[in-house]
Amino acid sequence: MQKFSQNKLLILVIFFLVQKMGMSQQILELSVGTAAGNIIDRNIYGHFSEHLGRCIYDGFWAADSLNVPKKDRIRLDVVEALKKINIPNLRWPGGCFADEYHWRDGIGPRTQRPKMVNTNWGGITEDNSFGTHEFLELCSLLNCEPYIAGNVGSGTVEEMSHWVEYLNFDGESPLTNIRKQNGRAEPWRVKYWGVGNESWGCGGNMTAEFYADEYKRYATYTRNYPASSLRKIASGANAADYHWTEVLMKNVGPRRMWGLSLHYYTIPSGNWGKKGSATKFDEKEYFNTMKNCLVMEELINKHSAIMDKYDSAKRVALVVDEWGIWTDVEPGTNPSFLYQQNSMRDALIAATTLNIFNNHSDRVKMANLAQTVNVLQSLILTKGTDMLLTPTYYVFDLYKIHQDAKLLPVHFESPSYSSGNEEIPAVNISASKDSTGKIHISLVNLDPLNNIIIKTRIEGESWKKVTGRVLTSTNLTDINSFENKNRVVPGVFTGAKKEGNDLVVTLPAKSIVVLEIND
Ligand code: AHR
Repeated sequence: MQKFSQNKLLILVIFFLVQKMGMSQQILELSVGTAAGNIIDRNIYGHFSEHLGRCIYDGFWAADSLNVPKKDRIRLDVVEALKKINIPNLRWPGGCFADEYHWRDGIGPRTQRPKMVNTNWGGITEDNSFGTHEFLELCSLLNCEPYIAGNVGSGTVEEMSHWVEYLNFDGESPLTNIRKQNGRAEPWRVKYWGVGNESWGCGGNMTAEFYADEYKRYATYTRNYPASSLRKIASGANAADYHWTEVLMKNVGPRRMWGLSLHYYTIPSGNWGKKGSATKFDEKEYFNTMKNCLVMEELINKHSAIMDKYDSAKRVALVVDEWGIWTDVEPGTNPSFLYQQNSMRDALIAATTLNIFNNHSDRVKMANLAQTVNVLQSLILTKGTDMLLTPTYYVFDLYKIHQDAKLLPVHFESPSYSSGNEEIPAVNISASKDSTGKIHISLVNLDPLNNIIIKTRIEGESWKKVTGRVLTSTNLTDINSFENKNRVVPGVFTGAKKEGNDLVVTLPAKSIVVLEIND
């Protein structure tokens, strides 16, 4: 059997999309070229943990008295679940919280750490028991890269500069002596460094021009120490604020920043005042949600086009360090804690967004879903000693095969999924080839009613075997609850077969399928 070769790259795929209702048939051609593909940076599959609601406290960081497996107070059941999906990086301490966080309050003996008020998220008292050492211990247990957001809004250049010295300097200095007294001899060599967060809003309400100057001042003094080069990430645009990206690229430019961020949340109703329920929605609201989710592609295209003007070599990464669905909170929970359940709809959002990121991974090098545990589009929900994995978790499990694999560009025309006079593409796809030569294709069908038959011809490659996994459920509103944790879980996919040299897939309605093709 001939191996998938890098140079024999043209894989011609013909999609015959037939709606199961049997009414229409479309034949589409897809060509996939391995030579042109860049690597899908594993950091696209990153996560975010803020001092917000029950993400850190009661999520990652449990009370001493809680009877769960722990290292110090870090919940090991949560750690084990995240290790299984190969979490590449974790962003901390915020979010809005980052711009009122003073890192020195979170080091040293815990009983002596000053308390503070978390004014962004409910005015609760923060005891600072989870600080720098605890976060970096968590990352070490997770085997992932830390991504720290420094305080520009209410902090000083000196404070940020000292934090980096404390973290990354290997020599003798007053700060490294304090680090050693606090039990850490070696520097951590933190690489990913955010210079503020949402500096247009909760991070200081700055103009783009003012922030660009501030960025340069802060970034100048966040030093690269021997063997500890920082990848500095500028606080980027809110959704479609293209002026922000233009000014940052023009006034700061590729030499001074490794990445520029972008924040975009999917709001079901499109209205921040009344976002919509996480679990109770009809098909119209589902359609609107997916339409809003797909805006991510337009945002990436437009921000990337601006970045290309100033950086045709694509040195600056677009870092989508906050994304996901944001709904009304679960009834009866603290509105400031942003606790929401997670349904099959959320899984479709995650899978679609990750397909978009994969397909734009020439510019998008990092992303962080908001937020890992108990906040917004979570992977994990906890309740006392109990925990559950959400449908979104399983998408990251299915898609981990794309991490650091070579992107295979896909070209096809999707059938539409329509509601009233509006329509959106029903299907989205991304594909990659891993270091062992296996091809993976992730396919999403947003149409809640119609299966779609996909006939794929792979030319120039011979292959023998296709296997797959599928995530779907009876209803879009289905969730994993503490009473029924396995309602939405992946299963073996039997809807793909080889016919001649064609791959024929019956893609179920409202499903996510990941196929593995090898010889
Ligand atoms: O993720 C919740 C909040 O959303 C973050 O703190 C902030 O950066 C954004 O507005």
